[in-house]
Amino acid sequence: MACCRTSSPPARGSFEALDGRGRANLAQDFHRATLDAVLRALFSRRADTEGAVLADLARRYMEGPAHFKLFDFMAKGADDLTFLDGDRRRMGARWFKAVDALIAERRTRPHPEVRDLLDRLLAARNEDGSPLPDQEIRDQCSSMLAAGFETTSRLLFWATYLLALDPATQDRVRAEVLAFPAQRVAGLDDLKHWPLLRSVLFETLRLYPTAPLIARQALEADVVSGCDVVPGCMVTISPWVIHRHRKLWEAPTTFQPERFIDQPHPWGVEAFIPFGAGPRVCIGAGFALAEAQIVLASLLARFKVSMAVDRPVVPRASITLGPDHEPDFRLERIVQARP
Ligand code: HEM
Repeated sequence: MACCRTSSPPARGSFEALDGRGRANLAQDFHRATLDAVLRALFSRRADTEGAVLADLARRYMEGPAHFKLFDFMAKGADDLTFLDGDRRRMGARWFKAVDALIAERRTRPHPEVRDLLDRLLAARNEDGSPLPDQEIRDQCSSMLAAGFETTSRLLFWATYLLALDPATQDRVRAEVLAFPAQRVAGLDDLKHWPLLRSVLFETLRLYPTAPLIARQALEADVVSGCDVVPGCMVTISPWVIHRHRKLWEAPTTFQPERFIDQPHPWGVEAFIPFGAGPRVCIGAGFALAEAQIVLASLLARFKVSMAVDRPVVPRASITLGPDHEPDFRLERIVQARP
């Protein structure tokens, strides 16, 4: 796997390790970069060093037991049919044990000031002033990791794929990121220097929504567009269908990032729901977009990217919308003229 071959993680923002390679399976590099980012935000641990055990567990969980199985659709509640899924329970137990150990260690040796999400959760208080139980802290951390790693990695993959197929847009994005390099980003305001790059990410999320299905269980009877909804049944909303609907979008299947150019927060409006909508809207949307912009800016400032082979990449939906295969990208090193 490319993620094991490279010696310096892309999350550091440089992609130096890809120099001289000529081609790379970037899907693996994006996995590693996003896992590293989320582990650092949660626990101040780096995926390639002190957080390696957690990173390995998370990666193996997301590659295997996390994916939907037939019985997930047959189960009526979260605890039904779990006896069919030994793998998921075993890996879940190992993950919980690792996070419990981290919580215990942090309680013994707290950071002098708040540095990550774990510090915040340990400092948080319920309305009655009591601290959060360890189990809740562990569950919150686990949700963040599961929700925040593969989703962003897939976004980076599809954005790079679309830009590889559209060299003119790629050149325009490159001009933007060379004018304001990723190393100069000191805060979220600096990301305003990259309006086209941000629009590329929105357009990617429209065409390849990395959370392809949103599901809800009906609490009471309802009627939606003439269809009876029975209490307890599962209702699924498909961003994929809504985002490509010809009654909602002009040229729905064409990659046109400009359609988002003057829209700073377009998500959550009725025709564009890559992060969901309403009270359960994604709380990591800002984090994901900032992270994806920085990673992509670092890559495009260093390389011209194209596909190494012609075989089209077909999206495949599971928990996230992934590629049917992980293609190699051709990487051509950019040589910048000295000022
Ligand atoms: C491109 C990246 C991402 C996409 C497309 C995405 C998409 C979504 C969607 C569609 C939902 C709503 C699910 C529902 O309504 O049932 C959601 C919820 C959530 N996301 Fe994200 N997400 C992304 C990145 C992240 C990141 C980086 C984090 C955290 C670090 C995160 C944490 C969460 C959490 C905790 C929830 C549950 C919120 C709640 O139920 O109150 N997500 N995400």
